[in-house]
Amino acid sequence: MAGRRILLTGGAGYIGSHTFLALAEAGHDVVILDNFVNARRSVVDRLAQIVGRPVEAIDADVRDAEALEAAFRKGGFEAVVHFAALKAVSESVEKPLDYFDVNIGGLMTLLRVMEAHDCRRLVFSSSATVYGVPDETPTPETADFRAMNPYGHTKIMGEQILNWLSASDPRWAIGALRYFNPAGAHGSAMIGEDPRDIPNNLFPFIAKVATGELSRIRVFGNDYDTPDGTGVRDYIHVEDLARGHALSLDKLFESGEGHLVNLGTGRGYSVLEVIAAYKRASNRDLPFDIVDRRPGDVPIYVASAGKAAEVLGFRTERTLDEMCASSWAWISGPHSEGTE
Ligand code: NAD
Ligand code: WQD
Repeated sequence: MAGRRILLTGGAGYIGSHTFLALAEAGHDVVILDNFVNARRSVVDRLAQIVGRPVEAIDADVRDAEALEAAFRKGGFEAVVHFAALKAVSESVEKPLDYFDVNIGGLMTLLRVMEAHDCRRLVFSSSATVYGVPDETPTPETADFRAMNPYGHTKIMGEQILNWLSASDPRWAIGALRYFNPAGAHGSAMIGEDPRDIPNNLFPFIAKVATGELSRIRVFGNDYDTPDGTGVRDYIHVEDLARGHALSLDKLFESGEGHLVNLGTGRGYSVLEVIAAYKRASNRDLPFDIVDRRPGDVPIYVASAGKAAEVLGFRTERTLDEMCASSWAWISGPHSEGTE
């Protein structure tokens, strides 16, 4: 497929930066727009080093209509991949207005500007969180929406807005991708997940225990109805996830129609299995304590992965061991705490 001009909002973030590389590898011409609220500016230089040429990055807020307008006037974009959002579940409970403002306000501003510039191809970052506590595992795309917190609600609302928009005008072609649990880092070990504060999520938390920055892992509950009692998730290597975006874009251009798919492996691992795998990869002692369940946690999230295979030809290629090994190479390497 011929290279396209693509705008990546939130392209300096964890999934966005890996997707930048996947799209560049697929021959697309990609511009990042990010306000760096949750990314280091040095990511852009590191991406440039990996691809061996300068990377264009616009420092702007996705809610800033004038900045988007200017980017589109100059950019001539044929499609947008929209990652820019706030994503911390507990913070969303404390600051719901911030989450609706960025995740919904940002989406609305973007859609208006896209429409004004006759750009109607969009890939949207949705999440397994839209299923709440699902009735069925593996969970198919037909499962009901269930909001568990403001963050999850913004993803449901985002999808609904996009559905109504597609229904109003067939020129829109929108890919909604429901990510399960992204993990791991790029094979170069030059980019990866790099939370500034104490991580909320399992993988980055384990990584910091492996480096010695944090002392012990807390396992949130071992009395779930799962094989070893700990929570089960469908971890997907971030490079596989990134490739899913390239396939989604190809499909939008080829078919002119939208799609809605889960991006996961279809296989779940427990917290204890992840700790064991990370221990093998890092060869570090990973002490843990079993503590109370985390409020609002879901026992099991596993994707039904058949629709993404059928619609996009998407199949994951990397294992849990590769997620752990790449995470460890990144976090123990020289680039993970790059200065601004
Ligand atoms: P991230 O925080 O690393 O990336 C988001 C990027 O958006 C950051 O670079 C941040 O600086 C930028 N951003 C935030 N607000 C912005 C604004 N107002 N204007 C411009 N840029 C802004 O998060 P991520 O894990 O890479 O997630 C990317 C997307 O995928 C998000 O939409 C997230 O909700 C979704 N998602 C993430 C996960 C996950 O577990 N990581 C799972 C499902 C869905
Ligand atoms: C995974 C498992 C925890 C940390 C969250 C959001 C979701 C999403 C991704 C965006 C669970 C257990 C965790 C720890 C632990 N993002 N755990 N000790 O909860 O599946 O998803 O991030 O859309 O919306 O809810 O991911 O990595 O936090 O947890 O035992 O220190 O690890 O209980 O079973 P989760 P996670």
